[in-house]
Amino acid sequence: MPVDWYFSRLHNGHKISRVLLVSDLPLDSLEITRYFRDMPYWLGVKIVPFDQFKPNPDYESVVKGVRVYKINQCDAVVAIGGGSAMDVAKCIKMFATLDENKNYLEQEIIPNDIPFLAVPTTAGTGSEATRFAIVYYQGIKHSITDESCIPDAVVMDPNVLKTLPDYQRKATMLDALCHAIESYWAVASTEESRGYSAEAIKLIFDNVFGYLANNPKQNEQMLRAANLAGKAINITRTTAPHAMGYNLTSVYGTAHGHAVALCMKQIFPLTIDRAFVSCNDPRGADYLEGVLREMAKLMGCQTAAAASKKFSEFVDGLELEKPQFTEGDFEKFTNVVNPDRLANHPVKIDASEINDIYRQILA
Ligand SMILES: [Fe+2]
Repeated sequence: MPVDWYFSRLHNGHKISRVLLVSDLPLDSLEITRYFRDMPYWLGVKIVPFDQFKPNPDYESVVKGVRVYKINQCDAVVAIGGGSAMDVAKCIKMFATLDENKNYLEQEIIPNDIPFLAVPTTAGTGSEATRFAIVYYQGIKHSITDESCIPDAVVMDPNVLKTLPDYQRKATMLDALCHAIESYWAVASTEESRGYSAEAIKLIFDNVFGYLANNPKQNEQMLRAANLAGKAINITRTTAPHAMGYNLTSVYGTAHGHAVALCMKQIFPLTIDRAFVSCNDPRGADYLEGVLREMAKLMGCQTAAAASKKFSEFVDGLELEKPQFTEGDFEKFTNVVNPDRLANHPVKIDASEINDIYRQILA
């Protein structure tokens, strides 16, 4: 077990002795959580479980986690779970060495060397590979960005996907696929980021049917794909489908990856049509056209239009239940779309077009 190696080695001259285990999963629910539960017997490492947080974690739960970390004199953090467990663990790691008498969100992050291991339990967010952590303070979303919150080790255990519910399995995979596509065409893309995205896109399409059938080999490949897509957005961030998808999740409760894919279905063809009309990338329209063509090849298609069609049919083929949308909601969506994400989109999209895209999704 690679976890044994991680805990038996010295970290900055010290052996880990007390671990804060951040997870909202029962400790007897998975093979990996049982492994940590029994760790005192295997390795003599004390485990301090912390599960006092909810999805979209708030600042108070993070403060509580920092207190538990300090009171128990922990010297390492482990996160097991999806995006929320990762966000909480990242914040605890970053805040543990800051001044506890001041608001952590108002302090500058000082990188620390607290060992931090992550075990993602979905093949989707890629959060275990990113420098971003989200926390809600007084109901407002705060995004903290710091390299020091990237886990120094990741365990990809395909067994965690064995019992994943069907909707979550499909929606998280769509999240990873949209990360890879958006990062590939992002204005902020680099050669390195495109390398990660390209590998992720290929892995997803090569393994999706086995993954949907819950085959262990393909589950493992999908975890790898989601991690690579996470590495890609760690460099580039996301683009318009993510900027727009958040509204569908907050208003209708549509799973994040499903919501983003519904937006991608509309935005993919629009992006192709606009490549020469309103290119946003300083590298130019010819460059963007080349990127779209390369991406089509990665998806096994001859043209960008065929890739867009393939994406749309792929999402429809998953037969996800369409949320009960109300067309009247679209106006309030437009006001909160993150302009930074739109600036990172390879073609310009203005407010009236956002309205049109939402109308098409809600129709
Ligand atoms: Fe996402």
